[in-house]
Amino acid sequence: MSEPIGWPEDPDAPHPEPAKSLFVEEGLEIVVPMEGDAQELFIIVDENRAYLRKWLPWLDDVKSVDDELALIRSLSEKKADDFAFYIIRQFGNLVGVISLNWVDWSNRSFGLGYWVSQSSNGQGIITKSCSRMMDHCFDDLKLHRSVIEAAVENYQSRAVAERLGMRIEGISKDREWLYDHFTDSSLYAITAPEWKSRHQG
Ligand SMILES: CC(C)(COP(=O)(O)OP(=O)(O)OC[C@H]1O[C@@H](n2cnc3c(N)ncnc32)[C@H](O)[C@@H]1OP(=O)(O)O)[C@@H](O)C(=O)NCCC(=O)NCCS
Repeated sequence: MSEPIGWPEDPDAPHPEPAKSLFVEEGLEIVVPMEGDAQELFIIVDENRAYLRKWLPWLDDVKSVDDELALIRSLSEKKADDFAFYIIRQFGNLVGVISLNWVDWSNRSFGLGYWVSQSSNGQGIITKSCSRMMDHCFDDLKLHRSVIEAAVENYQSRAVAERLGMRIEGISKDREWLYDHFTDSSLYAITAPEWKSRHQG
């Protein structure tokens, strides 16, 4: 008897679930946070508040450890499968976050978000974490298209997308409301075949 056809050939079949943790390299891993991570997550956000606030819209919603706890609880309770949130640990220390901001299973595409503490900038932590996450999304989750949106003037974030070999596909006018003004976004993308020919030979 032949095997049943699975997702993605059969769109009604269940799709794979994003991993709970991914090994990036020795001393670098990305993991779904547990309730016990709430305090450490709040401390790093609080210490980097002004730096993160320049480009990320949610800083004013995080005022206490309880706010992080509520986020972590909502992740574990959340039944929706179109979002995943991971902390990045470097030699055990929490240094940043990477997320699947959205997953469009019908069209097999996903959007990545990220930040790293100011003191951990410039080491390739985000490029390496995105690269690992993209391998996972393309190889294990059978997704097809990866997207990063970064404010036009957020040159460090755009450099991440460019280092990953993503193509700039356009500028979205007034894409994001940042506290008191709109920002234009650069939209970067790469497809699974492009990624594989570039990164996996
Ligand atoms: C955007 C942001 C994540 C980029 O951080 P980053 O440290 O520059 O990015 P990476 O972790 O990929 O590191 C790249 C740097 O490490 C260097 N590097 C060292 N080893 C490296 C390696 N093995 N691979 C890649 N880069 C490496 C690169 O040369 C680059 O340094 P440079 O900027 O001096 O050229 C960070 O600035 C940030 O958190 N900003 C605030 C929040 C934010 O804007 N988030 C994104 C919203 S769209």
